[in-house]
Amino acid sequence: MGPEDLQGILSGLDLAFDDPRLIVGATDDAGVYAVSDDTWLVQTVDFFTPIVDDAYAYGQVAAANSLSDIFAMGGTPITAMALAAFPIEDLPVAILHDIMRGGLDKVREAGAVLVGGHTIDDPIPKYGLAVTGVVPAGQIWTKEGARPGDLLYLTKPIGTGILAKATKDGVIDHQVEASMVAWMAQLNRAAAQAVRSVGTIRSVTDVTGFGLLGHALEMARASGVTLEIDASRVPVHPTAFRQAKAGEVPSGTWDNVRYVEKDLDVVEALSESELAVYADGVTSGGLLISCRPELSAELESHFAAEDVQFWPIGRVVAESGHHLVLGGRPVTE
Ligand code: CO
Ligand code: CO
Repeated sequence: MGPEDLQGILSGLDLAFDDPRLIVGATDDAGVYAVSDDTWLVQTVDFFTPIVDDAYAYGQVAAANSLSDIFAMGGTPITAMALAAFPIEDLPVAILHDIMRGGLDKVREAGAVLVGGHTIDDPIPKYGLAVTGVVPAGQIWTKEGARPGDLLYLTKPIGTGILAKATKDGVIDHQVEASMVAWMAQLNRAAAQAVRSVGTIRSVTDVTGFGLLGHALEMARASGVTLEIDASRVPVHPTAFRQAKAGEVPSGTWDNVRYVEKDLDVVEALSESELAVYADGVTSGGLLISCRPELSAELESHFAAEDVQFWPIGRVVAESGHHLVLGGRPVTE
């Protein structure tokens, strides 16, 4: 399901509630609800079908992905509930055990606790978490705060959708797959901690299914600005450009391309498959951060202190003809 389909479904629903405690509804990374004068709840849920063969790694990646939306809102995850679908008759239960073990390890690493879950018998395995976090009242990070002059940072490479397809099609280089899995299993906790240390950063989201360009576009529109991304500075997993050129582009990524194209100015000529890499749907991606220029040096030093890799990928300018500008040429291997 592409971003346009989702918007179509949501636009047909009445998502307004007459409750002043509802701070953020279904418009950002996670929902936010004021449970008291000083504490806001942050809630999210995500689950998906296996994207790697290793059951334990799949559990880790799915859990890291579910937890990410809490970190992207500036929250601290406190409780998690597991959602699983599994063909109980057709696959060894040890596989489900390993998936859940991977998820549990990530919940612990995030500093949260698992308080329950639900499993159903289903032909296609699915796994993920519903996560609740907390944030001090008023201190959430939304997509609405980017301002002209801000610098843009990204904390994980993109290209996982393309490489996951290449994995399914059996054409992946195993070293590339292992490195991609390690990235996807990594929590955004330390990156969020670095951002929190700096204070009023402006705007944060995480890069997931709508791809770097899709999520950047959401931030640009919500903030009423234009995001300028430098293609040469965006971190991309090794071989993703080559795999995309060879046709390993998931259909959801083409949906993302069509979604962003109407509001995107591509400065240098990029091939279709190159553009697809920048729009590629990401699993458990990094944080996209819009940082006030006077805080960027401090943010970079906190990233270094937290051992977080980061890439400055562009800047924010006043709203122009398009909400998104992609300049530069990709650095391909
Ligand atoms: Co998100
Ligand atoms: Co999500």
